[in-house]
Amino acid sequence: MSIFIRKMTVGDVKQIAQLEKICFTVPWSEKSFNDEMQNKLAVYFVAVDDEKCIGYAGFWNISGEGDITNVAVLPKYRREGVGSMLISALIKEATSLNLVLLTLEVRKSNIAAQKLYEKYGFEKIGERKRYYSDDGEDAYIMTKSFL
Ligand SMILES: CC(C)(COP(=O)(O)OP(=O)(O)OC[C@H]1O[C@@H](n2cnc3c(N)ncnc32)[C@H](O)[C@@H]1OP(=O)(O)O)[C@@H](O)C(=O)NCCC(=O)NCCS
Repeated sequence: MSIFIRKMTVGDVKQIAQLEKICFTVPWSEKSFNDEMQNKLAVYFVAVDDEKCIGYAGFWNISGEGDITNVAVLPKYRREGVGSMLISALIKEATSLNLVLLTLEVRKSNIAAQKLYEKYGFEKIGERKRYYSDDGEDAYIMTKSFL
């Protein structure tokens, strides 16, 4: 297996929309990803194995702060370091863009994602009550500062 990370392109969107359906209960649509490819504030990476997209991650660069929209890896590729490769790519990009921080929301029940973010220096700095519209679950706000 030789997995690598590169920027997401319009040509990846169909595959990513499929991956999204597998990974999330409230998936973003193909149209959302196409819109993101036109969004000048958006930065997205994909993890590729043998020409197949097996994961993705991205953020919005809003006034010098990086707001991570999502990180996802196909179930059969998890616990092999792909999520780590994606987060590392986001951190490297954020650094080269001179962002002051990266921030995200994560479900309180999503221990796997919290552990991944903590491994890369994100800290829980607060929470948002009933953040998720499907089931009303609370979110932690996790942030990594570059200052
Ligand atoms: C969260 C997610 C992206 C992690 O991807 P991954 O490729 O499995 O992550 P990695 O293999 O790089 O794991 C890195 C670290 O994260 C933590 N981690 C990952 N999965 C974990 C799990 N199931 N339980 C506990 N810790 C976990 C560990 O600290 C791990 O380091 P280790 O393997 O040295 O113990 C993946 O589980 C996923 O796609 N989940 C569904 C989508 C999602 O919830 N995204 C986050 C939305 S906020």
